[in-house]
This record gives sequence, C-alpha cells and structure tokens, in this order.
Amino acid sequence: MHSNLDYSLQSSNSFNIKVSCSRIYFPSSLAELQQLPDLSSENFYILGEGSNSLFVESQAPIIIQPKFTGIEVNEQDDHFIVQVGAAENWHNLVCFCLEQGIFGLENLALIPGSVGAAPVQNIGAYGVDIADFCQTVEWFEFSSQTILPLSKAACQFAYRDSIFKQALYNKGLITQVTFKFPKAWQAKLSYAGLDTLNKDCSADEVMAKVIALRSSKLPDPKTLPNAGSFFKNPVVSAEKFSQLQQQYPTMPHYLQANGEVKLAAGWLIDQAGLKGFRHHGVGVHQQQALVLVNYASEHGADIISLAKYVQQQVFDKFSINISPEVRMITEQGEKDFSSLSDIKPISRNSDD
Ligand code: EPU
Repeated sequence: MHSNLDYSLQSSNSFNIKVSCSRIYFPSSLAELQQLPDLSSENFYILGEGSNSLFVESQAPIIIQPKFTGIEVNEQDDHFIVQVGAAENWHNLVCFCLEQGIFGLENLALIPGSVGAAPVQNIGAYGVDIADFCQTVEWFEFSSQTILPLSKAACQFAYRDSIFKQALYNKGLITQVTFKFPKAWQAKLSYAGLDTLNKDCSADEVMAKVIALRSSKLPDPKTLPNAGSFFKNPVVSAEKFSQLQQQYPTMPHYLQANGEVKLAAGWLIDQAGLKGFRHHGVGVHQQQALVLVNYASEHGADIISLAKYVQQQVFDKFSINISPEVRMITEQGEKDFSSLSDIKPISRNSDD
C-alpha cells in the first residue's frame, strides 16, 4: 500500500494550514486495508479531501486517506443504482449523474469534499441531503477486518450527523457509497433562491441555479481558503424562539418536525456585526457570515481564536451557543471545540 512518513498536509486541507503528519496511509483495496497496522491505541484521523477539517496544531495525528475509486451504474426498470468509491470527488459525481440522465443530486452541486466523507456528516443543501438517496454505505470494520454493508437506517442520519461520527467513530472507514435514484423525478425547489425557477424546469437548470447561488456567496477555497459553513445552524426550543422573534421579527427560522426551531447561524453572526471582520490574517467572509476564511495565516489556532470570538459575540447578543460543523484535529486526534481551552478568543476589534 502507498504510505508516507513526515507528510505535509498543507495542500490536503482547504484552510491551507501548514501542518504535517508523522505517517499517512492510502489504502485502495480490501487487501490494503487488511495490511494497515493496528492503530486502536494510537491517535489517528480518517481524512477525505480535507474540506471540513481544521488542523489546530502544526502536527497532525496519523492519517488514513482512503483511495477507493470508481463509479458503477446499474439501470433497473424504475430506478438507477450507482455505486461510488469513497475517494471520488462529490461534485464530479453530481456532474457525472446528470450527464448520464440520472437525477436527484443537482441540489447538492459544488459541495466540496469526497463521496466517502459525504455520509459522515450527511451533507445537505437547498432542501436535499445525502440521506434522501443513500441506499447503503460499505464500511470496513477494523476489528473484524471485513467490509460491512450498512443500510440507510443503520447510518442514523440526522442534521450534519450520522453513526460514523457517533458509535462507529474511528472503528472503521467508508470504502463505497451506494445510491438509489428513482427514474420518476421532480425538481425540489422549496428552498429560498430556487423558488424562482419554473416548476417544470430540468435538473440541469436546478444545478446551474445552485452553482450560481453558491458561487455568489461561498468563497472558492482555491482562491480564499475556507471550509464552507464553519458553524452548524443552532436549534432552539419553541419558547426560546418566540422570545427572540418578538425582538427580531425578521429572524430567518425553520420549524422542525419535533416543534423545535432551527435558526440561521449566518444571520446571527451577521447581526452581531461580524460580517467582513478580519484579524491576524483570518476573518468572517464578507458575503456569507457563516464562513470563516483564511487570508494569510499558517496556523489553525488563529481560526480557532476567531471562531471563539464569534461564538462569544453571538452568545452575548442572543444567548445562543453556536457550535462548529468543522472538525477540530490536534496531534492527539480529533477534539471537541469546547475542549480547546488553551486557545483564547481574540480580544480586540481590529482590521489587519
Ligand atoms: N444570512 C444572513 N447573513 C449572512 C448569512 C446568511 O442574513 O451573512 C441569512 C440569509 O439571508 C438566509 C439565512 O441566513 O435568510 C440562511 O442563509 P443561507 O440560505 O445562506 O443558508 P445557511 O443556513 O447559511 C445552510 C447550510 C449550507 C447550505 C445552505 C443552502 C448549514 C450549516 N449550512 O447555510 O451548507 O449550502 O444552507 O442549503 O446548515 C456547508 O455546510 O458548508 C454549507 C455551505
């Protein structure tokens, strides 16, 4: 199996943080997975394309970056089954499907990252998430050294969450994702921005609109390093929401099936006056306050420090605790944002 020692991950993380790891493995077959050393007592992290991971220190833990590739389409009477290797690029998969006349993923165009990472945080945008089309996830279990097919139900998908972040965390890795796309297709246009499209528009038109919307607000990590939404949209009780709504009648909100209310973290950050804020080479994006950007820093700690400041300012204004969607990786492995207590929030308002 291909592997390296003292490997730079600067081009493997979309924040462009200067970081390296002592060892990295690139398994691309079951036989290679079975050759991996037993890492159960070591600190390690499974990396996709590095578009949702923030390296906090200059040293990363041991990295496994799966390299399973290939897309296989199986046409049935009323649906398509598409099996995709974990290392395939997500947006390339969306384009491939549309070119083949397979519809469903168009609302998820331009999401950065790999197909294998997509189920981990149940990627979603513009009213669709991967759980809508995922049939099974093939998952290599370290303890049994076998690949198990996990059904959609077994994946326990929730908002930016799945079993891979919970009970199965670091107990194995995703090798392939299998999707089922019914041939009967209807455009999903409920999300703000897409509702301007004609209801009998094509999947290509939906994709073009999603690309236009995303490109207008979300910075391209190749030109301005970032990891998309830095924070998750917080969910509050109906009671808390009605108090807030009295004070802020225009506050964007999304009612949840259980009666709770999801709020827009980007709006909260924007209202806290932080849009466009810059400090020590990092900042809050000018077009979308939910995105933290790296103008010129090599240190993950600068972004953490900014994120803590943003979190504090939002809490001071709204008494709402927003938490990162981005994953925090230290030399000791992944850590909870709240446990990074040795990194202090920035303490002054300034431009650099
Ligand atoms: N808003 C502001 N100011 C801002 C940002 C947003 O007022 O600076 C307002 C918007 O006007 C809108 C509301 O907040 O009323 C929500 O904003 P938007 O539609 O841009 O979506 P979002 O909640 O910020 C979520 C996902 C995105 C996804 C979009 C579209 C999360 C954390 N983020 O963003 O996902 O693309 O919806 O579906 O759920 C990602 O995860 O990296 C990502 C980009």
